Amino acid sequence: MSDMLIVYYSQIQGNTKYIIDKCEKEFNADIIRIDTVEPYEGNIDEISAQAEHEIFLDFKPEIIPNDIKIDGYKKILIGTPTWWYTMAPAVLTFISSQNWAGKNVALFATDAGCPGHCIEDMIKLCKGANIFSTRTFEFNLHGTNYMITPEKDLKAWIKEIKSF
Ligand SMILES: Cc1cc2nc3c(=O)[nH]c(=O)nc-3n(C[C@H](O)[C@H](O)[C@H](O)COP(=O)(O)O)c2cc1C
Repeated sequence: MSDMLIVYYSQIQGNTKYIIDKCEKEFNADIIRIDTVEPYEGNIDEISAQAEHEIFLDFKPEIIPNDIKIDGYKKILIGTPTWWYTMAPAVLTFISSQNWAGKNVALFATDAGCPGHCIEDMIKLCKGANIFSTRTFEFNLHGTNYMITPEKDLKAWIKEIKSF
């Protein structure tokens, strides 16, 4: 078991995974990618409409894996794409299913320029946690892995998480 756990969801473009891949090289962390049991299907407009409906209802989809243990880690990093100005429903399920009291937590979200209240919503859900870092990373909406946020900001953030 490492002293750090990373849990993330990444869907459409792999942008959130892009950040995780950078982290993987720098941290000796256990990394878990969560997914919904029921995959999102259809084109981007259909997925977007489904997501909007789910978020409106605060829907918590079943996720895999569903037995993530967060106890025993010195720090936990959670990453999500921004969906309709908040976290993706899979991440809502994960965060809601855990007891965060006393945990050291860092949060990040990727977005396409409208971060909304994603980070604030995640902070509220991690009740009792010590949130030691939050960050958003902006990506080009239509390209794959084209990060608009400068790479140097990502590097600086990784250093910050490392030094905690
Ligand atoms: C359903 C849906 C809703 C989205 N809502 C927002 C949003 O509110 N603000 C924003 O800036 N980007 C939004 N985006 C763009 C994603 O946040 C962005 O492309 C993200 O980096 C995707 O991460 P991923 O490739 O890891 O899934 C949305 C994308 C999808 C699919």
